[in-house]
Amino acid sequence: MTKSAGEIKIVQISDIHVGEEHFVPSLLTRCINEINEFEPDIVIITGDLTANGFRREYDTFKNYLSPIKCKNLLVQPGNHDSRNVGYLHFEDIFGERYTSLSYKNLKIVAADSSEPDLDDGQIGREYYKWIKSEFENCEANAYRIFTMHHHLIPVPNTGRERNIVRDAGDVLEILVDSGVDLVLCGHKHVPYIWRIEDLLLLTAGTAASLRLRGRIEPNYHMIFLREEEIDIYRRYPFGRVEKILGIKRKTKKEKLCSKFAEEKIKEGPKGKVDEALEY
Ligand SMILES: [Fe+2]
Ligand SMILES: [Fe+2]
Repeated sequence: MTKSAGEIKIVQISDIHVGEEHFVPSLLTRCINEINEFEPDIVIITGDLTANGFRREYDTFKNYLSPIKCKNLLVQPGNHDSRNVGYLHFEDIFGERYTSLSYKNLKIVAADSSEPDLDDGQIGREYYKWIKSEFENCEANAYRIFTMHHHLIPVPNTGRERNIVRDAGDVLEILVDSGVDLVLCGHKHVPYIWRIEDLLLLTAGTAASLRLRGRIEPNYHMIFLREEEIDIYRRYPFGRVEKILGIKRKTKKEKLCSKFAEEKIKEGPKGKVDEALEY
């Protein structure tokens, strides 16, 4: 996995849960060593940094992060971090909960999907304009990534559905209309990838805890954005690396729904629908 000219290397880790009995410090320190060896351009942490949003947990988490050598670190909160008004500590330590990052030919928009003391979440309609304008204000052919903690569409093996954001349909449409390439999520600790329209939705597992479902092991993602390709690898700390996707990038994106809207119904001489269109 050596770097070729012009490519962007990203790591996504998620659901660390510092302060929980299931948190395993050696998994996190191992992850950080592996990340430093990989030398990514950007590291994204998609929430659930802590167990209960307590200041002490945040401080411990930040101390663990300090050896990361990557300059572009994008941290966002999850439902656990917003417990006990923990989002205030998040803002004190990491800054804005809704933020964006531009790097070379890439724009990342990160939104806080958590709600205080609730396990489920939403993006919130008051942020839709902001999301649209962030993606509008970048080069036409720039890579576009959106990150959030909760799921945007259901993920198998996560139990009965209560994990997608409440405004998932609206957010999904905004992202598709904005030409987003990739959505990064965490939350239920089950890694998965979906494709909707020309949008890839990548969910990471937990990188450093044993809050695991079924046979899943702790894992995180390594992503390569190249001029014409997206390659995604899943890495298991102390263990193997799997390539989960190698795909040609679509620069001209299509939306199935807009094709339906373009279809005109022809009417015959008596105002009847053309026979050819009857079904
Ligand atoms: Fe979590
Ligand atoms: Fe979560």
